[in-house]
Amino acid sequence: MTELLQASEQGIAAAANALNEGKLVGFPTETVFGLGALVTQHEAVAGIFEAKGRPADHPLIAHIGPGFDLEGWADVSSPKAKILIEKFWPGPLTMVVPRGPKMPLAVTGGQQSVGIRCPSHPVAQQLLLLLHAPVAAPSANRFGKVSPTSSAHVLDELNGRVDFVLDGDSSQVGIESTIVSLLSEQVVLLRPGTITRDQLQQALGCEVLLPSESADLQNLRVSGNLEQHYCPDAKLHVCKLGNELALSARIPNESALAVGWSASFLEVFKSMSVIRLPNDAAQVAQRLYATLRDADKQGFTHIVFECPPSDENWRGIHDRLNRAALKT
Ligand code: TXA
Ligand code: MG
Repeated sequence: MTELLQASEQGIAAAANALNEGKLVGFPTETVFGLGALVTQHEAVAGIFEAKGRPADHPLIAHIGPGFDLEGWADVSSPKAKILIEKFWPGPLTMVVPRGPKMPLAVTGGQQSVGIRCPSHPVAQQLLLLLHAPVAAPSANRFGKVSPTSSAHVLDELNGRVDFVLDGDSSQVGIESTIVSLLSEQVVLLRPGTITRDQLQQALGCEVLLPSESADLQNLRVSGNLEQHYCPDAKLHVCKLGNELALSARIPNESALAVGWSASFLEVFKSMSVIRLPNDAAQVAQRLYATLRDADKQGFTHIVFECPPSDENWRGIHDRLNRAALKT
């Protein structure tokens, strides 16, 4: 059985003790809930892959509290890293930088680079500040499934597979952190999130490339690059403007859920169950995974999601929707 710890001083201290003892702890972050193990507890790190059902050569993100001294763990000494830390930490940005000798290879998937993130969620911060090593944490879901944005979601996914789940307010950002590689002169956006390419370019004063635009990415493994990821059980259709009528005609409306914000889109699908979201990227991101998860819980067989606009603000949502919709 998994024990739910309250987000009190006591509960957070108990979670820190558990991590120090090599236990697995689910914990809140502002993006999604993480499944944490102390990076120095090798069996616990191996346990993450086991609990998730995730291939063991996938690199994990190492989480630190504000002000944690990364000396020996990771090299964040480059001018670009300093700028991004100053501007975006704590917050939903992961930087891939050279690994330090103290960072175990089991965390990095055997690579000489490591993803580092300093979350802004107050409970995550209090937890991380109690520890003397980073916490490796992927999203606290079974491999390939929708990420959790509340402690209840984590229990739904991993009850009995982890020792503790630390409670805390549900995730305000709602999709996983933006990941940027600082491994070469070219800065590369490995995973889009709510911190946008434009924001990164503005802060750094240089171009940030997409993986497709970068020549030297062959050696990186990013699990988000697997074709199918973040999947609900229901079949997800991302509906482009103009395709509404054709789509509506070919899916069972009585067991389908339509999710969107435009009046014209929702009008076409009015014979389905409908969820109207605000026409705002941040708010759609915040509610995206919970909406997909609820749809599964309610037994919908199809979800029709309005295709978001193509500007930079929506890139992270596009990315997650397109992966979730890719089904054979
Ligand atoms: O928002 C988040 O980042 C959440 C919360 C819990 O912090 N974590 C998360 O972890 O999304 P995960 O394991 O689901 O995604 C980690 C991503 C993977 O796509 C992985 O390949 C990439 O980070 N990554 C980690 N270290 C890397 C490295 N050294 N090189 C390239 N990619 C790396
Ligand atoms: Mg994940």
